[in-house]
Amino acid sequence: MQVAGIPLKVLIVYYSSAGHTRAIAQQLAKAAQADLEELRAVGEPPGTGARHYFWALRHLLLSQKPILIPFEHDASTYDLIMLGSPVWLGTFSPALRSYIWTAPLAHKHVALFCSYRNAPGPAFKHVARMLRTSTVLENTLSFLDPAAAGAGIIAIRAQRWVHELELCLSGQAETRL
Ligand SMILES: Cc1cc2nc3c(=O)[nH]c(=O)nc-3n(C[C@H](O)[C@H](O)[C@H](O)COP(=O)(O)O)c2cc1C
Repeated sequence: MQVAGIPLKVLIVYYSSAGHTRAIAQQLAKAAQADLEELRAVGEPPGTGARHYFWALRHLLLSQKPILIPFEHDASTYDLIMLGSPVWLGTFSPALRSYIWTAPLAHKHVALFCSYRNAPGPAFKHVARMLRTSTVLENTLSFLDPAAAGAGIIAIRAQRWVHELELCLSGQAETRL
């Protein structure tokens, strides 16, 4: 990814339980030449069965933030962080909320994406509220049922979004000059 001819260091941090958000994150990583960080919670039941569903529901309903398995990349060394999650009960997954709580995102540019089955609801608004000390870009990517759309469409939309973010950040760079 480049802004005004200068390469940006981009990190994509995401959570995915059934693989849909992962498919988007992987295409974004290709389009933006970004590093990828997949979040996992300590003690999270494997797979997407009933145990996992109730684990997710418990954390959502009790507003719990699960402890994350240590992540590899240091967000403070990146220019732009893309944060992605499935929509769960109209908000981002608890693992993403744990990440926002603990990662050094202050004064960073952050772009948000999600996958969902019915409606994204206020998910982006919730997360933007948690990122008060970051610059959250208005341009978001919400993807309805990526599995049904297929890999080709995911790749096209990922490339388009990355391009839009480049334009948006170029505008901000010009305003600062
Ligand atoms: C616990 C749970 C809650 C969900 N809540 C919503 C919701 O509120 N709105 C929606 O559109 N989809 C909802 N979904 C569907 C997921 O957002 C959708 O399947 C998503 O693409 C899964 O992404 P993943 O494969 O990366 O985990 C929910 C799924 C789960 C497991």
